[in-house]
Amino acid sequence: MDAPALAGTLGVGKVLVKDESSRLGLPAFKILGASWAVYRALEERLPEGAFGHWETLEELKERLEPLRPLNLVAATDGNHGRALARVARLLELGARIFVPEDMVSARREAIAGEGAEVIVVEGTYDEAVERSAAEDGERGLVVSDMSWPGYERIPFWVIEGYSTMLWEIEEELERRKEAGPDLVVVQVGVGAFAAAVTRHFRGPQSSRHPKLLSVEPESAACLLRSVAEEHVVSVPGPYDSIMAGLNCGRPSLVAWPIVSRGIDVLVAMDDEPAREAVRMIAASGIVSGETGAAGLGGLLWLLREENSGDQREQQEEARRALNVNRESSILLFNCEGATDPDAHDRLVGGTHASS
Ligand SMILES: Cc1ncc(COP(=O)(O)O)c(C=O)c1O
Repeated sequence: MDAPALAGTLGVGKVLVKDESSRLGLPAFKILGASWAVYRALEERLPEGAFGHWETLEELKERLEPLRPLNLVAATDGNHGRALARVARLLELGARIFVPEDMVSARREAIAGEGAEVIVVEGTYDEAVERSAAEDGERGLVVSDMSWPGYERIPFWVIEGYSTMLWEIEEELERRKEAGPDLVVVQVGVGAFAAAVTRHFRGPQSSRHPKLLSVEPESAACLLRSVAEEHVVSVPGPYDSIMAGLNCGRPSLVAWPIVSRGIDVLVAMDDEPAREAVRMIAASGIVSGETGAAGLGGLLWLLREENSGDQREQQEEARRALNVNRESSILLFNCEGATDPDAHDRLVGGTHASS
């Protein structure tokens, strides 16, 4: 959708928002990756051709009989785990979802509300990932959006699943006969989402070549740090940003080669611009959580003149590289609705719209 008020505030020609605050009944896009990765992984566990032709969910569930009982397993900052739990529920499989201890109760309850067993890990998201990985086996199928050495195929399918969003954007631009964005802004946790965006716009099939800007919280800027050091590194916790979906300390191994080559500018910011962005997006009639608004927050931070010292230099360089001006068309992803409704209400000062 067009967001002319945001374009006015940013002083650019056009702002397009891909709104993912409601996707298949969930308040984030993540089920696009989880569902495709589960499908491919289950297919691989069955004898070749066993999925055969199916049309209804009932038929698909029947094909899974030889694999039961089976738990789908993942660690999560919130949205991936909830999405995986939903897929498990649809397929009548179990779900064991590992969460960091500081996850707010609304997000934990939302995962449990999908029928999943929620296991709280003392530690960060990265520690939850480690715990979940140990569950892989005959009765546990780990479907993670994070990848590590030896665990790469499933996270790649997650990235493939996200591409649905990009093709929807193409269809909409085609329908409108629009040239498409000059700049695309993408939020980064482990980088799987950014990898989907980068693959799309840097792939041989793409007729568009916008600049790509990634946004991370300062306290979990693992992609920015890794790019600076030219290899994957972990940044130390605690990861305590309100941009909860981005609280990850290490980039995904399969995302890394894609994003490290394809993203033009990487920024990291504190929470304040994300708060401001939630309010601005709400004023445009869109429900956005702090992670969802972080793309706009990153832009606000980047285009602002008043930052000081090192930051100013970094910003000026980034602005030059992106060449944002009064004519620019910018695509933002509102990748998440109000997954912490109380926090959303506190920020926008009212009752949250349903998510
Ligand atoms: C809503 C939302 N947006 C963006 C991200 C970041 O995606 P990735 O971890 O693939 O970088 C997440 C991660 O959980 C998320 O939940």
